[in-house]
Amino acid sequence: MTANSLLGRSILNEGRSNKRSFVSLIVGLVVGFCLAELFVYSSTPERAEFEPYEGHRHGDVNDAHHSHDMLELSGPEQDVGTHEHVHENSTIAEKLYSEVKILCWIMTNPANHQKKARHVKRTWGKRCNKLIFMSSAKDDELDAVALPIGEGRNNLWGKTKEAYKYIYANHINDADWFLKADDDTYTIVENMRYMLYPYNPETPVYFGCKFKPYVKQGYMSGGAGYVLSKEAVKRFVTEAIPNPKLCKQDNTGAEDVEIGKCLENVKVLAGDSRDSNGRGRFFPFVPEHHLIPSHTDKKFWYWQYIFYKTDEGLDCSSDNAISFHYITPKHMYVLDYLIYHLRPYGIINAPDALPNKLAVGQLMPAPKVSLTEQSTEEASSKVSTDKKTP
Ligand SMILES: *[C@@H]1O[C@H](CO)[C@@H](O)[C@H](O)[C@H]1NC(C)=O
Repeated sequence: MTANSLLGRSILNEGRSNKRSFVSLIVGLVVGFCLAELFVYSSTPERAEFEPYEGHRHGDVNDAHHSHDMLELSGPEQDVGTHEHVHENSTIAEKLYSEVKILCWIMTNPANHQKKARHVKRTWGKRCNKLIFMSSAKDDELDAVALPIGEGRNNLWGKTKEAYKYIYANHINDADWFLKADDDTYTIVENMRYMLYPYNPETPVYFGCKFKPYVKQGYMSGGAGYVLSKEAVKRFVTEAIPNPKLCKQDNTGAEDVEIGKCLENVKVLAGDSRDSNGRGRFFPFVPEHHLIPSHTDKKFWYWQYIFYKTDEGLDCSSDNAISFHYITPKHMYVLDYLIYHLRPYGIINAPDALPNKLAVGQLMPAPKVSLTEQSTEEASSKVSTDKKTP
């Protein structure tokens, strides 16, 4: 029995249309998800409202954003533990684990090894095929790489270049895709494999939360994380970085904008990471800020930056979302619980069929429901018109 029919029966009399029961399902999901989000964030009423780092456009590890929150919410000393689910069927996720290999590298620094990075390793990081912490000092617990670079905001671009050079020299054959994430990014790695599955890693492409300005084809937010194909890493390291005409040579600048320029210059495409419904999968803030409508001032830079027009509310975020940013260490464990353990009894979600694989250079078609050309108002009036249709 599907979730749809279960919910339909509990709410509607038999004999009503499928359409009504589908609407009920959506309403049920919205309510459920909002309650879950309330549960996650109700413990932090003091959290700064949506402008955690005013004056800094870009998320990065050295932002001073709500550092007081970070201290209060520091993660547990001991791991929280885990357990197996006897009746869980992860056949498909295991298949993708071996077919879509992802190396995750985490931008961190010595001050964050204990505070943040170790909690990435204990939560989502362990689901990457390979996990590397890029720092400037070694660390036995993290097995961190000490890159030959100073710390601080002014070195983030330099550090990004060094990180990809290190990966190209030592690990390029360990994976097909290479994710950069911050130590306060939370990633649902299985959903990233699902998104990447059809693509050939020899295609020069990269994915993330796409922003409009500074780079013609757009660039990917640093905080939401971005994932480069093997070919993209190769072009970045061997063609772009050494060439002053293609890539900024010194270490300063916004890391995400600079890599966006370099990649465009070596013809690496800025991919479309939205799902087939046009919903986003990489997010530069906590789920709360993307989900709860009118949380935000429309003048806030985010609304000018996003490449694809988007709704607020549940419709903005894919059911197979990939990443969120500004996730505190404690919330990483909570998200792990909500995503990998908590289940509504009796509802089992069958995965969609995997798409066909694409040839080198081929991209997935744009989402069927594209909001790109619509204003948010048009899009939402369209949705409400649809609902009234009998
Ligand atoms: C697990 O799922 C796979 C793929 O959907 C299916 O082929 C297999 O029969 C399932 N195994 C069990 C034990 O249900």
